Amino acid sequence: MEKGNEFTDKMNEKMEIKIFKDYQALSEQAASEIEEVIKLKPDAVICLATGESPKLTYQLLVKKLIDGKIDLSDCTLIGLDEWVGVPPTTEGSCHHFLYKEIFSPLGISENQIHLFDALSGNLFLECQNMDKLILEKGDIDLMVVGIGMNGHIGFNEPGIPVDNYSHVINLDSTTQTVGQKYFAHPTELKKGITLGLKHLLQAEKVVLLANGDKKASIIKETLEGPISIDVPATVLRMHLNAMVIIDEEAAGLLSEKTLLDSQTASNV
Ligand code: GLP
Repeated sequence: MEKGNEFTDKMNEKMEIKIFKDYQALSEQAASEIEEVIKLKPDAVICLATGESPKLTYQLLVKKLIDGKIDLSDCTLIGLDEWVGVPPTTEGSCHHFLYKEIFSPLGISENQIHLFDALSGNLFLECQNMDKLILEKGDIDLMVVGIGMNGHIGFNEPGIPVDNYSHVINLDSTTQTVGQKYFAHPTELKKGITLGLKHLLQAEKVVLLANGDKKASIIKETLEGPISIDVPATVLRMHLNAMVIIDEEAAGLLSEKTLLDSQTASNV
């Protein structure tokens, strides 16, 4: 199956691609996907990414809660990743983002929230504890993820093995540079702690969000390039229940064939 960093057996390629007019429309769809999972399974285990891509989705989810459409009181919420050494109180940390954008507005109680402690003196134990929790819960029902400019998911950087669970990783130069956008001041971003690609592949469902023309090139590689750990997001194409939700700008470089295979027409 494996040839170098590529996976030549694409038997499982079933990824659903949905293309929307803009960020608002894709975020509405993503919020509906989350709503659907919670309605089917009120005690769902949901893993949440941070970043610009899911921000509006989370705001729309908060609105759904206020409108009485969803109840998350039985859910378990897991943070996808964190910058090692960055305090949780720092604006720019994943911890800070998740509390600000979703946990606090949704009134999620502490015992439902599981985040990596990136200041821990024993990061290996942090990884072990996260893996143990996920194992005890059975599975992750839904992972909401973004995609890095280098094709990373969480902090699964190019070249990472697919059989990794939680781990600490040296961040590549693209991630260190792009990551500065979350911080008010230049911040050292050398390492990350993250769920692994194996979590992604074992999750019941994965929803990947991307918007804007800056993501067009990496989205094309993800959907049309070889499935390879050189572009970690491509492994999603081996997942049986993965969905990519993007806007027209992020879909801007896709081939005719991919566009025909996607659900563009019915949604735009
Ligand atoms: C960051 C995070 C990822 C995130 C991705 C995309 O580095 N580690 O979890 O999904 O890169 O971020 P954005 O949505 O801001 O483009």
